[in-house]
Amino acid sequence: RKPATTSKLKKMKQDGTPITVMTAYDYPSAMLSEEAGVDVILVGDSLGNVVLGYDSTIPVTIEDMIYHTRSVVRGAPSTFVVTDMPFMTYHGSLDLTLRNAARIMQEGLAKAVKLEGGQEICAAVEACTQAGIPVMGHIGLTPQSIHQIGGFKIQGKNSEQAQKLLDDALALEKAGAFAIVLELVTEQLAQHISEALSIPTIGIGAGPQCDGQVLVFHDALGYGSNIAPKRFVKTYADIGAQIREGLKQYVDEVKGRSFPLPEHSFRMEEDVADFLYG
Ligand code: KIV
Ligand code: NA
Repeated sequence: RKPATTSKLKKMKQDGTPITVMTAYDYPSAMLSEEAGVDVILVGDSLGNVVLGYDSTIPVTIEDMIYHTRSVVRGAPSTFVVTDMPFMTYHGSLDLTLRNAARIMQEGLAKAVKLEGGQEICAAVEACTQAGIPVMGHIGLTPQSIHQIGGFKIQGKNSEQAQKLLDDALALEKAGAFAIVLELVTEQLAQHISEALSIPTIGIGAGPQCDGQVLVFHDALGYGSNIAPKRFVKTYADIGAQIREGLKQYVDEVKGRSFPLPEHSFRMEEDVADFLYG
């Protein structure tokens, strides 16, 4: 299978083919996502929450993103991999922004980067795209600004907010973004933005009218995430329960001396044992 490209993703929007995006953070999650046929893997800075145990994405560093992206790319060599630029790595000079984006591509081996924000980051988006770095936008609820937003609230509920988000989306497209994540916006607004853009929208908590969908791996699979269940997430498996049960059984069996059994163990040939021990 050939990896998706920015132009293939645009074509999928034109053809009305839904785009599937899944987050992954390491070799096995990436390998399984590729095997399942997802179009794009996002190495999200949600890894701060679901893998590193922070209570937000803010502590995540560019070194964290590079380290995890490298393992994802090894697990999914035939998938288009996009990596989040973490908190405050694209708000300084354009020089510094480009250097950080370049590190994610050269050291992390990502094919594209994702930046949160609207018109205020369009200079950064334009600088990256002009340097040959594909950029995915991300508007609506932007978790890196959670302390400014003041909680996980639906965005764009009134006409003034909705107009701002539409303007942000159009500005990102103009700045060269190849796709835009819409997080926690009303389905009406998501539909409106999706129709107004020629680049695909990727929704999370943004209804069925987006051109694609994204979910966080650990949320979608019930994998040890301590985050309260969210209405917009569908849990497709309960991996956490299976892991908990398996680990408990392992502990019980070792304590009870029912693991390992002879079939898990290795024995010398009798004559070798004689030779060694007389
Ligand atoms: O970090 C992440 O996983 C994301 C997606 C939820 C879009 O940004
Ligand atoms: Na993110």
